[in-house]
Amino acid sequence: MIILETRHLTKIFPDGTEAVKDINLSFREGEFAVIAGANGSGKTVLVRHFNGLLMPTRGEVLLEGEPITKNLVRARTQVGIIFQDSDSQIVGQTVAEDVAFGPENLGLSPEEVAATVKETLESVGLSHLANRRPHLLSGGQKRRLAVAGVLAMKPRIIVFDEPFTGLDYPGVVQVLNQVLSLHRKGHTIIMVTHELEKVLAHADRLIVMHGGEVAEDGPPGEVLGRVGRYGVRQPYGNRPVETMTWIS
Ligand SMILES: Nc1ncnc2c1ncn2[C@@H]1O[C@H](COP(=O)(O)OP(=O)(O)OP(=O)(O)O)[C@@H](O)[C@H]1O
Ligand SMILES: [Mg+2]
Repeated sequence: MIILETRHLTKIFPDGTEAVKDINLSFREGEFAVIAGANGSGKTVLVRHFNGLLMPTRGEVLLEGEPITKNLVRARTQVGIIFQDSDSQIVGQTVAEDVAFGPENLGLSPEEVAATVKETLESVGLSHLANRRPHLLSGGQKRRLAVAGVLAMKPRIIVFDEPFTGLDYPGVVQVLNQVLSLHRKGHTIIMVTHELEKVLAHADRLIVMHGGEVAEDGPPGEVLGRVGRYGVRQPYGNRPVETMTWIS
């Protein structure tokens, strides 16, 4: 089943920058798609349209066949985006309050909010830090908190924009394991990353953006040989990150 679709999605900013051009993409429920591409190729602008954070200049985004503009609250709930800059996503005074923010805004009862917060913090391994002030967390812990904030909304589609930036090796493994576990639970995963070697062994699909357009879209094994021409580094191999020898 197609869960998310863009039709002729085009974004032209007021300064004339045509950031994405006529993008037609469909995502199947439960798939794990990776989006790569050089800096400025339009990846972040593209995914920010998926839940209406940006509105297209032309074209549209459909969630289960319905334009997301018909119900933006639903789009925001079903499509969770975890940004590269986790700090910008932190809103609460404590870790627990931060995770509670989304469910509270959905109008859940205090009991439901408390249960969701507990369950979500456990799933990302942050229960022991529930009362900590978010800005005191490490970078990797902040990333996990950002994941928790999104998971608390129980989105079906989870978009990660460069989830590995700034993380140490244990942080990378933790985030990757979280992503894989969400995928196993049936969530649709869309991940923007330059670090193909960390994820491609797990992904169903590799999309390459180039100059605001989709240059390649297919099984990683078919697309990989051509990524070099779009400014994307070829991975060292197809081994998953857990089995890699880390070279910093
Ligand atoms: N608000 C804005 N106003 C004008 N131009 C913008 C705006 N936001 C993004 N752009 C431009 O749109 C293009 C695509 O930007 P985008 O952030 O999507 O790139 P990206 O592929 O995510 O790059 P990176 O790998 O560096 O994160 C760039 O040329 C960028 O300068
Ligand atoms: Mg980006």
